Amino acid sequence: MSAETFDLIVIGAGPGGYVAAIRASQLGMKVALIEERATLGGVCTNEGCIPSKALLDSSEHFALARDKFALHGIVIEPPQLDLARMISRKDEVVKKNTDGIAFLCKKNGITTISGRGRLAGQSNDLQTVGVTSDSGEQLLTGRRVLLATGSRAVELPFLPFDGETVVSAREALAFRTVPEHLVVIGAGFIGLELGSVWRRLGAEVTVIETLAKPLPTMDGQAADGLLRSLKKQGLKFLLETAVQSAVVANGRVTLTVSGLSGEAQIVCDRVLVAVGRKPLTDGLGLAEAGIALDERGRVIVDEDYQTGAKGIYAIGDLIAGPMLAHKASEEGVVFAERLQGELSRVEYEYLPGVCYTWPEAASVGKTEEELKNAGIDYNSGKFSFLANGRARCMDETDGFVKILANKDNGRILGIHIVGPRASDLIAEAVTAMTFGATAEDLAMTFHAHPTLAEAIKEAALDVMKRAVHA
Ligand code: NAI
Repeated sequence: MSAETFDLIVIGAGPGGYVAAIRASQLGMKVALIEERATLGGVCTNEGCIPSKALLDSSEHFALARDKFALHGIVIEPPQLDLARMISRKDEVVKKNTDGIAFLCKKNGITTISGRGRLAGQSNDLQTVGVTSDSGEQLLTGRRVLLATGSRAVELPFLPFDGETVVSAREALAFRTVPEHLVVIGAGFIGLELGSVWRRLGAEVTVIETLAKPLPTMDGQAADGLLRSLKKQGLKFLLETAVQSAVVANGRVTLTVSGLSGEAQIVCDRVLVAVGRKPLTDGLGLAEAGIALDERGRVIVDEDYQTGAKGIYAIGDLIAGPMLAHKASEEGVVFAERLQGELSRVEYEYLPGVCYTWPEAASVGKTEEELKNAGIDYNSGKFSFLANGRARCMDETDGFVKILANKDNGRILGIHIVGPRASDLIAEAVTAMTFGATAEDLAMTFHAHPTLAEAIKEAALDVMKRAVHA
């Protein structure tokens, strides 16, 4: 047993855990951070958000050079793909980020410990955590433990991952060759982003989704807009379609699907299963510690993120709510501040979601469907990027900004953007909503010309039916 007693032991160094560790350390706590991966940063940095965005950017450059340069008067030989270089650049980007996180943890005086952590007992208000590594198990003592172990990809029972032909996002970020035909099961965030990457690089891509629209949590109009754009790029969609069975043989997969037009067979060389993720709670010793899970296997916590066991806390993908890195990080900060008695809280109402396709789709607040179901009266304003000067300069006119505002007091209830750089534009929407802005507030605010952000101002004006350039 280590002689030290930590104020906080964090298990899992993803965007929830390492951010909580840094904030706790800033607040004066002595912190240990346990991670079983060789590098810090969790799924997000190692095999999720960061590498997927690196490949999205690279593949976008390739597609621009191939499909759009001529339009801008740039004539080049047809570009050639050096996939090995593209993948190794992505790995370099990941390394810079994981190194950066290690540097931050060191700078903040955090003790990082390599190994797999588990709850190993509690006495006199002190927690014991076991850390298993190649050199055996060491025991740590701490006043509090934060569980931040994240989630893992859900497997389909009849189509288990094999790491080569039937894969999760992790392997789809590192294919050594461009698939001939990639079937993506699940039109969620991962399916659309990685389907886009491989389509841009030349694969035939078919996306199979059980529901009627992609991105089921997005505003319906926004999902329809994105679907139109992705179809134009050549992605094929089989919506309201279920995969019944699969046969994997000799590097090919034959899927039997049933959908709107009956039963059919699809043959492909790679299947990406992206039907969601589930909390990673195995082997943590939760049951022994008396920690309850809900019906979806998520750790139940109170407003301080404390589990049913005193002194043990959980955040991020382990608990309820969207599995998003920025949610986990914010929870990490708020958890640490509340431990110190501060009145911090996560503004879940204003949690943005972004799908990094091209065009991108980003949203915050209520969808039109949610407002209708809740019987809330609203006014809606919409502005197309077709009428935005900057989008025309870029030749990126697909998409729109849509603003939903309370009919009684004008307060903004939701903003949904499909369009170029929606991921950056949504920040204005989040700020406006967090500060309780009305559509009129946004409409009265200067927006530099010519910028994509002017579409937000015009959509806000359109809520009052005053858009100038519509
Ligand atoms: P998801 O929950 O975003 O989407 C899963 C999709 O699969 C849904 O549309 C669902 O209706 C569909 N589906 C479920 N079972 C199916 C089946 N048997 N056949 C066909 N379709 C089926 O899950 P995804 O894309 O796997 O992402 C996992 C998590 O990671 C999500 O919670 C997401 O928020 C997060 N993530 C976020 C990203 C972002 O913010 N840009 C990027 C990647 C992941």
